[in-house]
Amino acid sequence: MKIKTAEIVMSAVKPEQYPEGDLPEIAMVGRSNVGKSSAINTLLGRKKLARVSSSPGKTRTINFYLINNAFYLVDLPGYGYAKTSKPERAAWGKMIETYLSTRENLQEVIQLVDIRHNPSQDDQLMYNWLKHFGYGSLVLATKLDKIKRSQYQKHIKNIREILEMPPESKVMALSALKKTGVEDAWEKMGSLVER
Ligand code: GTP
Ligand code: MG
Repeated sequence: MKIKTAEIVMSAVKPEQYPEGDLPEIAMVGRSNVGKSSAINTLLGRKKLARVSSSPGKTRTINFYLINNAFYLVDLPGYGYAKTSKPERAAWGKMIETYLSTRENLQEVIQLVDIRHNPSQDDQLMYNWLKHFGYGSLVLATKLDKIKRSQYQKHIKNIREILEMPPESKVMALSALKKTGVEDAWEKMGSLVER
């Protein structure tokens, strides 16, 4: 996909703040620090559009990035960040759940997992939830640069098995560091937002 324009349109904490109109949206979910915001920057070929941090809990709002005036990529706060206070965690959880369960524009939700690790229990819960609501056709394995090429198939197989991914669902892998996997990701994601 050729990215002609990419801009942040809204940082929302409640539904009244979601963008108006009926453009399709693709949202990124995953645990804190897995690389959601980095993936968005990499997919868009922008260095600092979405804010990234080495400490988890960086993204705290639902951020809508308008691409080519045609669709939105949506960056969400991560889950599973233990150091956040309990009330704050609950509020984030509610914010994410409200968005995912009520947003009609939502075309697909992509689950991100770290390619190095077996998906956590939270990841499994989230993926099951996504499948239940008809999402989850795509999983994005992040930090591809952190494993050896020879280990790739093994890691992908683990992810598929632990998440119990249906055979028709696809895994793609991305390195925000090396900018690899971008074309393949758009090949798989593009059809979701082309109309
Ligand atoms: P929250 O907003 O806290 O939920 O985190 P996030 O999922 O948006 O993660 P973010 O993109 O902020 O990245 C977290 C850390 O992982 C940063 O230090 C990134 O530089 C690093 N990171 C992300 N993607 C990659 C990657 O592909 N390779 C490597 N080596 N590091 C990465
Ligand atoms: Mg983030």
